Amino acid sequence: MIPKEMKDRIRKQIEGSEHPREQVVNVMYALQSHYGYLSDEAVIEAAGLLDMSPLEIEELATFYDFIYREPVGKYVIHACDGVVCWMFGEESLVDYLCRTLAVEIGEITPDGLFTVLPSVCIGYCDHAPAVLVNGRAYGPLTPEKVDELLEQLRRDHFILVQDR
Ligand code: FES
Repeated sequence: MIPKEMKDRIRKQIEGSEHPREQVVNVMYALQSHYGYLSDEAVIEAAGLLDMSPLEIEELATFYDFIYREPVGKYVIHACDGVVCWMFGEESLVDYLCRTLAVEIGEITPDGLFTVLPSVCIGYCDHAPAVLVNGRAYGPLTPEKVDELLEQLRRDHFILVQDR
């Protein structure tokens, strides 16, 4: 269950909206940032807050690529699977990432750090091949640059953990 202050903040946001249902994506994102993904519990909470049915929330949640209905790693890599990004090499960017990280699409690496998800186009075609990692775009990528990026993200995580 989300903390009361968070619930009050979301309620205020919904009440301040002319059409409360328009807040559904924001509400799903807020709950996802709290739980790490849009859990079943979060779906029910979102439905209650928005006076919608859990099924309506579920339908919308599965429509949006950036709403995760399953647990994900700390870094969610949306790897572009669009035609421009197929310039990556002998294998696709998605295949390269999955092979390098030894995961299937949607799985979490054993260290809890990475999940790879394919996207049709991330709108970064002029920097293809490209990925989005937690909303930040990287490109143009080569296999070497992907390896460097993964290493950088591991280091960033390690530094964050050490600083706690
Ligand atoms: S096709 Fe890859 S970013 Fe557009």
